[in-house]
Amino acid sequence: MDKPRVFVTRKVDEAAIALLETVADVEVWPDYKAPSKGALLSNTKDVDGILANTEDRIDEDVLAVSNGRLKVVANMAVGFDNLDVNTATGLGIAMSNTPGVLTKTTAELGFALMMAVSRKIVAGDRDVRDGKWQNWHPSAYLGVDLAGSTLSVIGMGKIGFEFAKRAKAFEMRVLYHNRSPRKDIGEGFEYCGKLETALEQADFLCITTPLTKETHHFIGKAQLSLMKPASILINIARGAVVDNIALFEALKEGRIAGAGLDVTEPEPIPADHPLLTLANVVITPHIGSASQRTRRDMAVLAAQNIKARLSGEPMPSCVNPEAMTRKTQREKEEEYALEVLREEEDEEEV
Ligand code: DGY
Repeated sequence: MDKPRVFVTRKVDEAAIALLETVADVEVWPDYKAPSKGALLSNTKDVDGILANTEDRIDEDVLAVSNGRLKVVANMAVGFDNLDVNTATGLGIAMSNTPGVLTKTTAELGFALMMAVSRKIVAGDRDVRDGKWQNWHPSAYLGVDLAGSTLSVIGMGKIGFEFAKRAKAFEMRVLYHNRSPRKDIGEGFEYCGKLETALEQADFLCITTPLTKETHHFIGKAQLSLMKPASILINIARGAVVDNIALFEALKEGRIAGAGLDVTEPEPIPADHPLLTLANVVITPHIGSASQRTRRDMAVLAAQNIKARLSGEPMPSCVNPEAMTRKTQREKEEEYALEVLREEEDEEEV
Protein backbone atom coordinates (compact mmCIF):
# COMPACT_ATOMS: atom_id res chain seq x y z
CA MET A 1 0.00 0.00 0.00
CA ASP A 2 1.19 3.59 -0.75
CA LYS A 3 2.44 5.71 2.12
CA PRO A 4 -0.43 8.04 3.13
CA ARG A 5 -0.30 11.56 1.72
CA VAL A 6 -1.32 14.74 3.51
CA PHE A 7 -1.92 18.16 2.03
CA VAL A 8 -1.45 21.17 4.33
CA THR A 9 -3.21 24.23 2.96
CA ARG A 10 -0.87 26.81 4.52
CA LYS A 11 2.63 26.91 5.99
CA VAL A 12 2.28 25.96 9.69
CA ASP A 13 4.64 25.34 12.59
CA GLU A 14 7.43 22.85 11.81
CA ALA A 15 6.49 20.75 14.85
CA ALA A 16 3.18 19.90 13.18
CA ILE A 17 4.84 19.02 9.88
CA ALA A 18 7.40 16.83 11.65
CA LEU A 19 4.58 14.98 13.39
CA LEU A 20 2.73 14.41 10.13
CA GLU A 21 5.91 13.18 8.47
CA THR A 22 6.08 10.30 10.95
CA VAL A 23 3.07 8.77 9.18
CA ALA A 24 2.74 10.42 5.77
CA ASP A 25 4.31 12.18 2.84
CA VAL A 26 3.43 15.80 3.37
CA GLU A 27 2.91 18.59 0.89
CA VAL A 28 2.51 22.17 2.09
CA TRP A 29 0.86 24.90 0.00
CA PRO A 30 3.68 27.44 -0.28
CA ASP A 31 1.73 30.69 -0.81
CA TYR A 32 0.60 33.16 1.83
CA LYS A 33 -2.81 33.28 0.17
CA ALA A 34 -5.16 30.31 0.43
CA PRO A 35 -5.24 27.90 -2.52
CA SER A 36 -8.04 28.66 -4.98
CA LYS A 37 -10.81 26.09 -5.30
CA GLY A 38 -9.07 24.70 -8.41
CA ALA A 39 -5.73 24.45 -6.63
CA LEU A 40 -7.38 22.83 -3.61
CA LEU A 41 -8.98 20.22 -5.86
CA SER A 42 -5.84 19.44 -7.80
CA ASN A 43 -3.71 19.18 -4.65
CA THR A 44 -6.12 16.91 -2.80
CA LYS A 45 -7.05 14.40 -5.47
CA ASP A 46 -4.76 11.71 -4.15
CA VAL A 47 -4.46 12.50 -0.46
CA ASP A 48 -5.51 10.67 2.69
CA GLY A 49 -5.54 13.75 4.89
CA ILE A 50 -5.96 17.51 4.67
CA LEU A 51 -4.83 20.04 7.28
CA ALA A 52 -7.13 22.97 6.53
CA ASN A 53 -7.77 26.50 7.72
CA THR A 54 -10.93 28.54 8.28
CA GLU A 55 -10.56 30.10 4.83
CA ASP A 56 -10.61 26.73 3.04
CA ARG A 57 -14.08 25.66 2.06
CA ILE A 58 -14.03 21.88 2.36
CA ASP A 59 -17.18 21.13 0.40
CA GLU A 60 -18.63 18.14 -1.46
CA ASP A 61 -16.28 18.66 -4.40
CA VAL A 62 -13.16 18.57 -2.24
CA LEU A 63 -14.46 15.60 -0.26
CA ALA A 64 -15.16 13.67 -3.47
CA VAL A 65 -12.07 14.49 -5.50
CA SER A 66 -9.85 11.76 -4.02
CA ASN A 67 -12.32 9.06 -5.11
CA GLY A 68 -12.65 7.59 -1.66
CA ARG A 69 -9.04 7.90 -0.54
CA LEU A 70 -9.51 10.85 1.83
CA LYS A 71 -9.88 9.70 5.46
CA VAL A 72 -9.45 12.84 7.54
CA VAL A 73 -9.74 16.63 7.40
CA ALA A 74 -8.26 18.48 10.39
CA ASN A 75 -9.31 22.10 10.68
CA MET A 76 -6.78 24.37 12.36
CA ALA A 77 -9.53 26.30 14.17
CA VAL A 78 -12.11 25.65 16.81
CA GLY A 79 -14.91 26.83 14.50
CA PHE A 80 -15.65 24.50 11.62
CA ASP A 81 -18.37 26.25 9.65
CA ASN A 82 -16.06 25.92 6.60
CA LEU A 83 -16.37 22.11 6.65
CA ASP A 84 -19.23 20.09 5.15
CA VAL A 85 -19.45 17.71 8.10
CA ASN A 86 -22.63 15.93 6.94
CA THR A 87 -21.21 14.93 3.61
CA ALA A 88 -17.92 13.90 5.21
CA THR A 89 -19.70 11.71 7.75
CA GLY A 90 -21.60 9.91 4.99
CA LEU A 91 -18.31 9.24 3.20
CA GLY A 92 -16.57 7.98 6.34
CA ILE A 93 -14.25 10.99 6.40
CA ALA A 94 -13.39 12.10 9.94
CA MET A 95 -13.13 15.79 10.70
CA SER A 96 -11.59 17.60 13.64
CA ASN A 97 -11.14 21.05 15.14
CA THR A 98 -8.79 22.54 17.73
CA PRO A 99 -10.75 23.21 20.92
CA GLY A 100 -9.08 24.24 24.16
CA VAL A 101 -5.70 25.38 22.90
CA LEU A 102 -6.92 28.78 21.72
CA THR A 103 -9.53 29.54 24.36
CA LYS A 104 -7.61 32.01 26.51
CA THR A 105 -5.82 33.62 23.59
CA THR A 106 -9.12 34.38 21.86
CA ALA A 107 -10.73 35.67 25.06
CA GLU A 108 -7.74 37.97 25.58
CA LEU A 109 -8.12 39.45 22.10
CA GLY A 110 -11.82 39.99 22.72
CA PHE A 111 -10.96 41.77 25.91
CA ALA A 112 -8.40 43.91 24.11
CA LEU A 113 -11.11 44.91 21.63
CA MET A 114 -13.54 45.73 24.43
CA MET A 115 -10.98 47.98 26.09
CA ALA A 116 -9.91 49.55 22.81
CA VAL A 117 -13.48 50.55 21.93
CA SER A 118 -14.58 51.54 25.44
CA ARG A 119 -11.55 53.81 25.95
CA LYS A 120 -11.21 55.04 22.32
CA ILE A 121 -7.66 53.73 22.13
CA VAL A 122 -7.49 53.32 18.36
CA ALA A 123 -9.22 56.63 17.61
CA GLY A 124 -6.88 58.36 20.08
CA ASP A 125 -3.80 56.77 18.53
CA ARG A 126 -4.98 57.88 15.07
CA ASP A 127 -5.36 61.47 16.27
CA VAL A 128 -1.91 61.46 17.88
CA ARG A 129 -0.30 60.19 14.68
CA ASP A 130 -2.26 62.62 12.51
CA GLY A 131 -1.20 65.59 14.64
CA LYS A 132 -4.81 66.13 15.75
CA TRP A 133 -4.19 65.84 19.49
CA GLN A 134 -4.41 69.46 20.57
CA ASN A 135 -4.25 69.41 24.35
CA TRP A 136 -5.50 67.65 27.44
CA HIS A 137 -9.12 68.53 27.94
CA PRO A 138 -11.53 67.40 30.68
CA SER A 139 -14.07 66.24 28.13
CA ALA A 140 -11.83 64.83 25.43
CA TYR A 141 -11.85 61.12 24.52
CA LEU A 142 -14.25 60.16 27.27
CA GLY A 143 -14.93 56.47 27.41
CA VAL A 144 -16.87 54.02 29.53
CA ASP A 145 -15.63 52.21 32.64
CA LEU A 146 -15.72 48.44 32.61
CA ALA A 147 -15.95 48.31 36.41
CA GLY A 148 -19.59 48.49 37.41
CA SER A 149 -20.83 47.87 33.84
CA THR A 150 -22.87 44.87 32.74
CA LEU A 151 -21.49 42.39 30.23
CA SER A 152 -23.73 39.94 28.38
CA VAL A 153 -21.97 36.98 26.80
CA ILE A 154 -23.85 35.39 23.93
CA GLY A 155 -22.73 31.77 23.76
CA MET A 156 -21.14 30.70 27.05
CA GLY A 157 -18.82 28.05 25.64
CA LYS A 158 -15.14 27.76 26.50
CA ILE A 159 -14.18 31.14 25.02
CA GLY A 160 -17.27 32.88 26.38
CA PHE A 161 -16.46 31.62 29.86
CA GLU A 162 -12.83 32.77 29.71
CA PHE A 163 -14.07 36.18 28.59
CA ALA A 164 -16.62 36.22 31.42
CA LYS A 165 -13.99 35.32 34.02
CA ARG A 166 -11.82 38.22 32.87
CA ALA A 167 -14.82 40.53 33.06
CA LYS A 168 -15.45 39.41 36.63
CA ALA A 169 -11.85 40.28 37.51
CA PHE A 170 -12.56 43.75 36.11
CA GLU A 171 -15.55 44.03 38.46
CA MET A 172 -18.23 43.74 35.80
CA ARG A 173 -21.63 42.18 36.33
CA VAL A 174 -21.82 39.20 33.98
CA LEU A 175 -24.95 37.83 32.30
CA TYR A 176 -24.97 35.11 29.68
CA HIS A 177 -27.34 33.67 27.14
CA ASN A 178 -27.08 30.04 26.13
CA ARG A 179 -29.54 27.33 25.17
CA SER A 180 -29.32 26.13 28.78
CA PRO A 181 -27.68 27.33 32.00
CA ARG A 182 -24.18 26.05 32.71
CA LYS A 183 -23.92 24.17 35.97
CA ASP A 184 -20.14 23.91 35.92
CA ILE A 185 -19.11 27.56 36.06
CA GLY A 186 -19.61 28.47 39.68
CA GLU A 187 -21.21 31.54 41.16
CA GLY A 188 -21.43 35.03 39.80
CA PHE A 189 -22.60 34.47 36.22
CA GLU A 190 -26.30 35.19 35.69
CA TYR A 191 -28.14 33.06 33.15
CA CYS A 192 -30.60 34.77 30.78
CA GLY A 193 -32.82 32.21 29.10
CA LYS A 194 -34.18 35.00 26.93
CA LEU A 195 -31.80 36.60 24.48
CA GLU A 196 -33.84 39.80 24.78
CA THR A 197 -32.97 40.16 28.49
CA ALA A 198 -29.27 39.76 27.79
CA LEU A 199 -29.48 42.40 25.04
CA GLU A 200 -31.53 44.91 27.02
CA GLN A 201 -29.29 44.82 30.07
CA ALA A 202 -25.90 44.83 28.38
CA ASP A 203 -23.50 47.75 28.49
CA PHE A 204 -21.17 45.40 26.64
CA LEU A 205 -22.26 42.47 24.49
CA CYS A 206 -19.69 39.83 23.60
CA ILE A 207 -20.57 37.29 20.91
CA THR A 208 -18.82 33.96 21.13
CA THR A 209 -21.41 31.62 19.68
CA PRO A 210 -20.39 29.35 16.78
CA LEU A 211 -21.77 30.04 13.31
CA THR A 212 -24.45 27.51 12.37
CA LYS A 213 -27.64 27.70 10.28
CA GLU A 214 -29.44 28.79 13.47
CA THR A 215 -26.99 31.55 14.42
CA HIS A 216 -26.60 33.11 10.95
CA HIS A 217 -27.43 36.82 11.48
CA PHE A 218 -28.49 35.95 15.03
CA ILE A 219 -27.88 39.60 15.93
CA GLY A 220 -29.76 41.72 13.40
CA LYS A 221 -31.85 44.87 13.32
CA ALA A 222 -34.47 43.64 15.81
CA GLN A 223 -31.87 42.49 18.33
CA LEU A 224 -29.73 45.63 18.00
CA SER A 225 -32.81 47.77 18.59
CA LEU A 226 -33.11 46.25 22.08
CA MET A 227 -29.63 47.35 23.11
CA LYS A 228 -28.84 50.51 25.06
CA PRO A 229 -27.68 53.54 23.04
CA ALA A 230 -24.46 53.58 25.10
CA SER A 231 -23.73 49.88 24.60
CA ILE A 232 -20.77 48.33 22.80
CA LEU A 233 -20.83 45.11 20.77
CA ILE A 234 -17.82 42.80 20.53
CA ASN A 235 -17.75 39.93 18.01
CA ILE A 236 -15.00 37.32 18.28
CA ALA A 237 -17.07 34.43 16.86
CA ARG A 238 -17.80 34.59 13.14
CA GLY A 239 -18.73 37.65 11.09
CA ALA A 240 -21.99 36.17 9.83
CA VAL A 241 -23.41 35.77 13.35
CA VAL A 242 -24.05 39.53 13.14
CA ASP A 243 -25.86 41.26 10.29
CA ASN A 244 -23.15 43.80 9.55
CA ILE A 245 -25.38 46.12 7.56
CA ALA A 246 -27.84 46.30 10.46
CA LEU A 247 -24.86 46.86 12.74
CA PHE A 248 -23.60 49.70 10.55
CA GLU A 249 -27.02 51.36 10.62
CA ALA A 250 -27.35 50.98 14.40
CA LEU A 251 -23.90 52.52 14.92
CA LYS A 252 -24.44 55.32 12.44
CA GLU A 253 -27.79 56.27 13.95
CA GLY A 254 -26.38 56.14 17.48
CA ARG A 255 -28.64 53.25 18.49
CA ILE A 256 -25.55 51.61 19.93
CA ALA A 257 -22.27 53.36 20.78
CA GLY A 258 -19.49 51.22 19.36
CA ALA A 259 -18.26 47.87 18.11
CA GLY A 260 -15.11 45.81 18.23
CA LEU A 261 -14.97 43.13 15.57
CA ASP A 262 -12.33 40.49 15.06
CA VAL A 263 -14.49 38.81 12.43
CA THR A 264 -16.51 40.22 9.56
CA GLU A 265 -18.68 39.10 6.71
CA PRO A 266 -16.99 38.76 4.28
CA GLU A 267 -13.34 38.35 5.22
CA PRO A 268 -11.29 40.26 4.43
CA ILE A 269 -13.76 43.12 4.78
CA PRO A 270 -13.59 45.25 1.59
CA ALA A 271 -11.74 48.54 2.08
CA ASP A 272 -14.87 50.46 1.02
CA HIS A 273 -17.20 48.71 3.48
CA PRO A 274 -19.42 51.26 5.29
CA LEU A 275 -18.33 49.95 8.71
CA LEU A 276 -14.84 51.26 7.98
CA THR A 277 -16.14 54.81 7.76
CA LEU A 278 -17.10 54.82 11.45
CA ALA A 279 -14.71 56.08 14.12
CA ASN A 280 -16.45 54.13 16.88
CA VAL A 281 -15.58 50.76 15.35
CA VAL A 282 -12.34 48.83 15.81
CA ILE A 283 -11.76 45.95 13.42
CA THR A 284 -8.93 43.44 13.66
CA PRO A 285 -8.10 40.91 10.91
CA HIS A 286 -9.42 37.70 12.52
CA ILE A 287 -6.51 37.38 14.93
CA GLY A 288 -8.32 35.92 17.94
CA SER A 289 -6.00 32.92 18.11
CA ALA A 290 -2.95 34.67 16.71
CA SER A 291 -0.28 34.23 19.34
CA GLN A 292 2.86 32.30 18.51
CA ARG A 293 2.30 29.61 21.11
CA THR A 294 -1.38 29.15 20.29
CA ARG A 295 -0.88 28.91 16.55
CA ARG A 296 1.80 26.27 17.14
CA ASP A 297 -0.49 24.36 19.50
CA MET A 298 -3.36 24.54 17.01
CA ALA A 299 -1.18 23.20 14.20
CA VAL A 300 0.15 20.40 16.39
CA LEU A 301 -3.34 19.42 17.56
CA ALA A 302 -4.54 19.35 13.95
CA ALA A 303 -1.55 17.16 13.05
CA GLN A 304 -2.24 14.86 16.02
CA ASN A 305 -5.78 14.38 14.75
CA ILE A 306 -4.54 13.42 11.29
CA LYS A 307 -1.85 11.13 12.65
CA ALA A 308 -4.33 9.37 14.92
CA ARG A 309 -6.83 8.80 12.13
CA LEU A 310 -4.19 7.52 9.73
CA SER A 311 -2.85 5.19 12.42
CA GLY A 312 -6.30 3.88 13.38
CA GLU A 313 -6.15 5.45 16.84
CA PRO A 314 -8.76 7.63 18.61
CA MET A 315 -8.57 11.23 17.41
CA PRO A 316 -8.12 13.88 20.15
CA SER A 317 -10.88 16.18 18.86
CA CYS A 318 -13.02 14.59 16.18
CA VAL A 319 -16.22 16.53 15.42
CA ASN A 320 -18.01 13.64 13.66
CA PRO A 321 -17.14 10.41 15.47
CA GLU A 322 -20.03 8.74 13.56
CA ALA A 323 -17.73 8.84 10.52
CA MET A 324 -15.59 6.15 12.16
CA THR A 325 -18.46 3.70 11.96
CA ARG A 326 -18.43 4.01 8.16
CA LYS A 327 -15.79 2.90 5.72
CA THR A 328 -14.36 5.19 3.09
CA GLN A 329 -14.84 4.10 -0.52
CA ARG A 330 -11.15 3.18 -0.64
CA GLU A 331 -11.41 1.01 2.48
CA LYS A 332 -14.44 -0.77 1.00
CA GLU A 333 -12.55 -1.38 -2.25
CA GLU A 334 -9.51 -2.67 -0.38
CA GLU A 335 -11.67 -5.02 1.69
CA TYR A 336 -13.42 -6.24 -1.44
CA ALA A 337 -10.09 -6.85 -3.19
CA LEU A 338 -8.88 -8.81 -0.17
CA GLU A 339 -12.05 -10.87 -0.12
CA VAL A 340 -11.70 -11.71 -3.83
CA LEU A 341 -8.08 -12.69 -3.24
CA ARG A 342 -9.08 -14.97 -0.36
CA GLU A 343 -11.81 -16.61 -2.46
CA GLU A 344 -9.34 -17.19 -5.30
CA GLU A 345 -6.84 -18.72 -2.87
CA ASP A 346 -9.59 -20.94 -1.40
CA GLU A 347 -10.57 -22.10 -4.89
CA GLU A 348 -6.96 -22.91 -5.75
CA GLU A 349 -6.67 -24.99 -2.59
CA VAL A 350 -9.78 -26.97 -3.53
C1 DGY B 1 -11.12 29.59 15.29
O1 DGY B 1 -10.36 28.83 15.86
O2 DGY B 1 -12.26 29.27 14.97
C2 DGY B 1 -10.58 30.92 14.97
O3 DGY B 1 -11.55 31.78 14.52
C3 DGY B 1 -9.48 30.78 13.94
O4 DGY B 1 -8.48 31.64 14.33
